[in-house]
Amino acid sequence: MTAEQVISRGSLVDRDSSITAAEMVQHLVPPRQFETATLDSYRPDRDYPSQGGAVAAIRNFAHGFSAKGGGGLFSRRKAPVELPGVYLDGGFGVGKTHLLAALWHLAPGRKYFGTFIEYTALVGALGYAGAVAQLKGATLVCIDEFELDDPGDTRLMSRLLSELVASGSRIAATSNTPPNALGEGRFAAQDFLREIDALAARFTTLRIDGLDYRRRDMEGHATTTADSDLAAALHTLSGVVTVDGFDTVIRLLSTVHPSRYVRMVDGVDAIALTDVHPLSNQTDALRLVAFVDRLYDAQVRIVATGTPIDQVFDEDMLAGGYRKKYLRAASRLIALTAGQV
Ligand SMILES: Nc1ncnc2c1ncn2[C@@H]1O[C@H](COP(=O)(O)OP(=O)(O)OP(=O)(O)O)[C@@H](O)[C@H]1O
Ligand SMILES: [Mg+2]
Repeated sequence: MTAEQVISRGSLVDRDSSITAAEMVQHLVPPRQFETATLDSYRPDRDYPSQGGAVAAIRNFAHGFSAKGGGGLFSRRKAPVELPGVYLDGGFGVGKTHLLAALWHLAPGRKYFGTFIEYTALVGALGYAGAVAQLKGATLVCIDEFELDDPGDTRLMSRLLSELVASGSRIAATSNTPPNALGEGRFAAQDFLREIDALAARFTTLRIDGLDYRRRDMEGHATTTADSDLAAALHTLSGVVTVDGFDTVIRLLSTVHPSRYVRMVDGVDAIALTDVHPLSNQTDALRLVAFVDRLYDAQVRIVATGTPIDQVFDEDMLAGGYRKKYLRAASRLIALTAGQV
């Protein structure tokens, strides 16, 4: 790729992050990275039989779509008894989002795929009744990264899901890690089921064990570029590229609601961050985590100077309740700076 292929170069600060309700709805599809995810392209790790088991269970869940419309009441072939909800539980990088997107691709009719934060933003834009009216009647509603750390939003979402299930929609979800879930081996299913309360009985839980898939091919730290090599590194990038100081971006993230980060990076191919340094403030760090999630979803490549960007979270942060979030962000940052996009 040559420099001539750079379509535009600017600053993240100048990007329009406003988003209308209609655009939010249009966005309720799997992110770029998972546009082509299928059950067949998921390669179960033989060392972790739960991975193959999850693929089989999701295939079975998907059969429920055809069984539904098919035989009717007097059909000879008995439709499989399927609960309307499925919840994918597991550590980071085991392919939960991949499998969720694969299921979404298999569903017929009107269907939605979004992160928890996108659905809550939709409720913010349309009001609760408006969001229900929009989503109602969908065959499948996928919620990636159900947030378990905000009681208000969690209640809102449980109520929304109950209404959707009552009207015949099926639900598939994954969740993030609840705060204070310190043990690495701790799974979030119990917390999720508790939060969705009465709906819990209508969910099948699939637990996926395994290693971070992103780490199967890479080790070490995020790639960092020397200041003197930045210009050359920018030359290797193409498309829409932004260049900003790390501090500028950290400040920017505090002025834009996290539900709009998705819009900020929409159409961006690569970002350059200069003078990356360790963060000392947890709020800044968590905003960066949310931003990294959007960069990762959109597969936006990162070029950075300064501290390797996976190492900006300090020891206190890594020892605290959000440890898993930071580790996952680090894993994603390693992938994005390695140019594996
Ligand atoms: N078993 C697998 N076979 C093929 N690709 C996989 C597999 N597991 C993960 N991947 C790929 O690895 C990347 C990370 O997977 P994914 O994002 O689905 O994991 P996750 O469990 O949702 O992780 P996170 O905790 O970061 O949300 C994706 O590009 C996905 O397509
Ligand atoms: Mg995921």
